[in-house]
Amino acid sequence: MSTAEAGKRSRVIAVANQKGGVGKTTTVVNLATSLALDGYTVLVIDLDPQANATSGLGVDPQPGVSLYPVLTGSADVADIIQPTPYEGVNLIPAEIDLAGAEVEVARSGDHLQAVRRVLARVLEASVYDFIIMDCPPSLGILMTSSLAAADSILITMQCEYYAMEGLSVITSLVERLRQGGVNPGLTVQGILMTMFDARTNLSSDVINEVRGHFGDLVYETVIPRNVRISEAPSFGQPAVVFDPLCRGAVAYRVFAEEFAQREGK
Ligand SMILES: Nc1ncnc2c1ncn2[C@@H]1O[C@H](COP(=O)(O)OP(=O)(O)OP(=O)(O)O)[C@@H](O)[C@H]1O
Ligand SMILES: [Mg+2]
Repeated sequence: MSTAEAGKRSRVIAVANQKGGVGKTTTVVNLATSLALDGYTVLVIDLDPQANATSGLGVDPQPGVSLYPVLTGSADVADIIQPTPYEGVNLIPAEIDLAGAEVEVARSGDHLQAVRRVLARVLEASVYDFIIMDCPPSLGILMTSSLAAADSILITMQCEYYAMEGLSVITSLVERLRQGGVNPGLTVQGILMTMFDARTNLSSDVINEVRGHFGDLVYETVIPRNVRISEAPSFGQPAVVFDPLCRGAVAYRVFAEEFAQREGK
């Protein structure tokens, strides 16, 4: 973690979409590693009990090692943060028991502040340029309280029919958290279009439709559908490491630059 500077403030980004299989985890893993390759320090927080970001970063999910005991007050966040094989990327892993946190945290009083309280401890130490949270595909407590703690949300969308369906659910949640005073500063960092298939008109049509709606919020970089991206997780590697020259990896490296620029880094 050589680039750490005293007193800097981490940017906290939640990668979210309540739809399943839209490239959230793939984006978290490859964005985090790309940012680290560019010299930034990154903490990934895996908020999905499926633990795909954990295993995708080459870390084996382990019973008891997740945000769960931290959220319930029985572990210190500093003891849960793990290194990954990728320099500059640390991880708060997930494992299946994290599903229990939904119930446990909901039972506690101000559950919306649960993730924010944990992050406050990490932010105090001020070690990371970026904290990137991989949200589960649901509108549960974990996703909501991670949005309550984030500076901004990055929405991933698959280039397919009905991509926009349900998007208003997430944008109105952002609005509610902002206007209700839970997180007045929350912004939409951007919308990343993934799994673009150049062989079909459909992908281009979907991008045009989303751009028509959201304009410049949609990143210029579009992630292509690329089989190497889907193979990389079974090797516990981000695609940008597994096959740095494949089209998908190159797109994620370009995206990371666009992302950092948008963050003013
Ligand atoms: N650009 C891509 N090209 C090819 N396959 C991809 C691409 N992006 C993601 N995939 C594959 O699509 C599947 C879903 O991606 P991913 O797990 O990133 O989505 P997710 O939104 O995190 O899903 P969930 O909602 O279940 O957490 C995975 O098998 C992944 O390997
Ligand atoms: Mg996922």
